[in-house]
Amino acid sequence: MEIKKICVLGAGLMGNGITQVCAQAGYQVAMRDIEQRFIDGGMKTITKNLTRDVEKGKRSQEDMDAILGRIKPTLDMKEAAAGADVVVEVVIEVMDVKKQVYKELEAIVPAHCLFFTNTSGLSITEMAAITTRPGKFIGTHFFNPVPVMRLLEIIRGYETSDETLEIAKAWGKKIGKEVIVVREAPAFAVNRILCTMLNEAFFALDEGIASAEDIDKGMVLGCNHPIGPLALSDLVGNETLLRVMEGLHRELGDKYRPAPLLKKLVRAGRYGRKTGKGVYEYTK
Ligand code: CAA
Repeated sequence: MEIKKICVLGAGLMGNGITQVCAQAGYQVAMRDIEQRFIDGGMKTITKNLTRDVEKGKRSQEDMDAILGRIKPTLDMKEAAAGADVVVEVVIEVMDVKKQVYKELEAIVPAHCLFFTNTSGLSITEMAAITTRPGKFIGTHFFNPVPVMRLLEIIRGYETSDETLEIAKAWGKKIGKEVIVVREAPAFAVNRILCTMLNEAFFALDEGIASAEDIDKGMVLGCNHPIGPLALSDLVGNETLLRVMEGLHRELGDKYRPAPLLKKLVRAGRYGRKTGKGVYEYTK
């Protein structure tokens, strides 16, 4: 199957990044969100990223204009999904919300359309089961910042067909990603390990083992990580980390208990960079 039109549902942190890499690879992309301010924010980020590339001489102005020309931002679900060969769903990490979106989509998309879900750890099989096309349903898990991070983690649901897997792998390669294929399991492979480490950093901070700055410095200088775990949690979104940990805790037990300090930050609205405050504070 040839992919021509892609519909990305969500213009936030991950959605606008996925839209950008798809448009860079030559696809027509409709990027849909539920409020104009999210759409505007997504387009602003894409434009900023592409402008930086032009300023660095990595891309021409014509190339940038062509990429932007392939993106159709919209609030209209029908306009975004009609005629799509693939829908990449990047809505909030709440199972019931995602299921509702798939019910709505079924009435709009053509029969051949594939569903790719970008989730940090929810069950692909459970989402696929409420659609009429579980064979055409697969998990495509991206990493933040999407234009920079090289990995695409692909997760097969119970009913995902071999053909869908092959199409998703080829698509991943075309948008410039290295692909790993993992079996469905809570938080898959990368987040199971990464998020457990980030959560542990919150326990260490809460126990007064070291300051936030020193925990991060320790992991950067001692383990060669590009960024410390607390700074990374602020980048990913502390509420996203908490949702992943709650899922792991629910499915796999006490070893994965979310750190109380992480819960406290989320309750305080300190989601990280996106809200201007997390473990650290971000001024303009
Ligand atoms: N969007 C696009 N490009 C960006 C960017 C962004 N948000 N942030 C940085 N870049 C680009 C910069 O323009 C720069 O490009 P050049 O090499 O062409 O100059 C390059 O990335 C490096 O950026 P900086 O020099 O500004 O800063 P840095 O060297 O500290 O890199 C980083 C920034 C890439 C974010 C780096 O800190 C890093 O790799 N951090 C770890 C990221 C990570 O682990 N991500 C996975 C999170 S887990 C996840 O996302 C999954 C989940 O479900 C929770």
